[in-house]
Amino acid sequence: MEENSSEQEIAVPAKPGKITVGIDLGTCRTAIMSDRGAKLLARSLVGYPKDIISEKMVGSGPIFGEEALEKRNFLDLCYPLADGVIREASERDYKAAYELLGHLVELTRQGEDAEVCGIIGVPARASVMNKELLLSIAEKFMTKALVVSEPFMVAYQLNNLSNCIVVDIGAGTVDICGMKGTVPIADDQVTFLKGGNYIDERLCQSIIRHYPGVQVTESVACAIKEKFACVDRSKKAVVTLRHEGKPAEFDVTDDVNAVCESIVPDICEHIENLIQKFDPQDQEATLQNIILAGGGSRITGLADLIVEHLADYGKVKITTVDDPEFVGSAGALKLATEIPEEMWSQIGVMFDAE
Ligand SMILES: Nc1ncnc2c1ncn2[C@@H]1O[C@H](COP(=O)(O)OP(=O)(O)OP(=O)(O)O)[C@@H](O)[C@H]1O
Ligand SMILES: [Mg+2]
Repeated sequence: MEENSSEQEIAVPAKPGKITVGIDLGTCRTAIMSDRGAKLLARSLVGYPKDIISEKMVGSGPIFGEEALEKRNFLDLCYPLADGVIREASERDYKAAYELLGHLVELTRQGEDAEVCGIIGVPARASVMNKELLLSIAEKFMTKALVVSEPFMVAYQLNNLSNCIVVDIGAGTVDICGMKGTVPIADDQVTFLKGGNYIDERLCQSIIRHYPGVQVTESVACAIKEKFACVDRSKKAVVTLRHEGKPAEFDVTDDVNAVCESIVPDICEHIENLIQKFDPQDQEATLQNIILAGGGSRITGLADLIVEHLADYGKVKITTVDDPEFVGSAGALKLATEIPEEMWSQIGVMFDAE
């Protein structure tokens, strides 16, 4: 688990006895920031010992984040937020999500005995049921929590709330949201399942098809993607993999490029649908204010390729956020500290134990 208690980036007066947090609860990683300056990034992963022998080696658990990944031979691993939401029917996911959130809130407290309240980001079109499930977990650790859509938090952090489209390419989902100067409504947002996990799966299959007999898993494909992801062939991806057990070098440049490119048509189609919902007078400005966020925004050449696909729409300008890891949690914290708590219910679904 990466932890980084760097100095506070947002100048907000902390309230005594109460810690305010912004949480970006992701499929792959969860980022939390607090008004006391805590800044944590953790893999959204919980591990439980597989049997009595594993328990003897690693303790009774649960084990979280990077540590769980390192000790994976001993553990049953659970990513409780597959597809960015807690799977409604799974008791195991619910328990793991409960333990993960509790663990992270505890870390954020940094030893302080205070109540915790805050804002949690979820995929743009997470169902009402899912938001309620999440709030029922948050209720155990927090006195007040509000659930908002991930791309809205990004827009809020960037102070870019009008005539703007945010495209958040996460691990489980791609969330696209049109900002029109207000809290976005359901019709201005779309979520689809072609994020980083989809790319990893496709890359794995593509390499196996290209080089029969090569051994590659989705987590190896993910590491290759994170190093070489591009859509403009600017990175030559030659990697060492095992072929029938023996190491050898393979050129997977074409595979990486093709798979990264495969998410572009869907992204463009959804941008095209959303743009039509803006006032015609605002469409030109909006097309010049498209923001790419999320880990997938690091795919080299992605912004230029989207611009190319949207050539029929006139001038299109796309910018990529500087800090995809924390921009969402920073936005959630900014929102939580700038909007008085009594107004939170006007922004989204919440609970209030006070
Ligand atoms: N350099 C990179 N190039 C391409 N993809 C990357 C790169 N770095 C990270 N990623 C991918 O970005 C994804 C993680 O992004 P992010 O942290 O935004 O997702 P998340 O918030 O956990 O997921 P979600 O929003 O879907 O719940 C992973 O699939 C990861 O492999
Ligand atoms: Mg995310």
